[in-house]
Amino acid sequence: MELKGINKEIMAKIEKKELTIEMIAVSTAEELVAQIEIEEKDAKKVIKTAQEELGIQPMTALKFLEHESKRGKITTSSTEFDSILGGGIWTQELTEVAGSFGSGKTQLCFQLCLNVQLPVEEGGLGGNAFFIDTERTFSPRRVVEIASYRDFDVEEALSNIFIGAALNTHHLFSIVDELDEVIKEKNIKLLIVDSFASHFRSEFIGKGRLVERQQKIMQIAEKLIALAVKYDLAVVVTNQIIANVEEFLFGSPEEPALGFAWAHRPQQRIFLRKSRGSSRIARLFDSSRMPEREALFYVTESGLSDAPFSSDFYS
Ligand SMILES: Nc1ncnc2c1ncn2[C@@H]1O[C@H](COP(=O)(O)OP(=O)(O)O)[C@@H](O)[C@H]1O
Ligand SMILES: [Mg+2]
Repeated sequence: MELKGINKEIMAKIEKKELTIEMIAVSTAEELVAQIEIEEKDAKKVIKTAQEELGIQPMTALKFLEHESKRGKITTSSTEFDSILGGGIWTQELTEVAGSFGSGKTQLCFQLCLNVQLPVEEGGLGGNAFFIDTERTFSPRRVVEIASYRDFDVEEALSNIFIGAALNTHHLFSIVDELDEVIKEKNIKLLIVDSFASHFRSEFIGKGRLVERQQKIMQIAEKLIALAVKYDLAVVVTNQIIANVEEFLFGSPEEPALGFAWAHRPQQRIFLRKSRGSSRIARLFDSSRMPEREALFYVTESGLSDAPFSSDFYS
């Protein structure tokens, strides 16, 4: 790690504690003083420098561009889908994937759990995945199937995917609260919550509990975004679709669940829907970076792809 203008003595203390730039950038001066025993004024300088380095301090747009171009992306395995996302699923932000039952949300998550392991040149991040499963739909067999069509060592690929079953929202919070260690130790570069919506929707029923539900959703969204920034990883959460009574969001009869407060949290929002046969349509509908666009891709035996499956497609 390099922090411009910070002396060797302080850098040595930082390295000894194995602090990353991300960890420093989100610390308070007090926390840093307690961790590495430096003067408060030095701590403030270190934190400011780390924040500049990460692009979370006021800076010029030119510097921002430089910073953004360094951010990692995970390929979806469909070039068209990648292209509407600006290269794939980005690190340091929260991406929501909404869609009705069978639209391909979980298949995309499986594909990403494998693709994150690829080297950067091949569309990965050379890292591992943590999959928080709330619906018990994680299927190792299906991941094996997809991996076996690609150049993965199947056993190794599976051992790089960590699964946490979240039985209810309370449990989801406790898993997320304990992620720091595992992220550092296991080089996690992709965190998935599939499905993010289900427990919130089944546990907080009725208008009387709506405020409480929204608060919990916001809390966990903040935690997930903080992890994404702190550890430079991609966070993907899936959401269900509900009937849109007011039709204000899309002017269409369906919209992602969890309401208006949630709607502003993800930096990227993707809507998946079924099309003919094994084809699917992804629409990026809310992004500060990319226009609203659609991509056609396929979900077949071999996972996600640009073209329908044929047995010699990958040979
Ligand atoms: N082994 C497979 N071979 C081909 N297609 C599959 C396979 N497994 C799942 N699919 C496709 O994925 C769909 C399920 O998508 P999924 O991601 O589980 O939906 P959801 O959006 O509800 O999470 C199935 O309907 C099927 O079209
Ligand atoms: Mg699913």
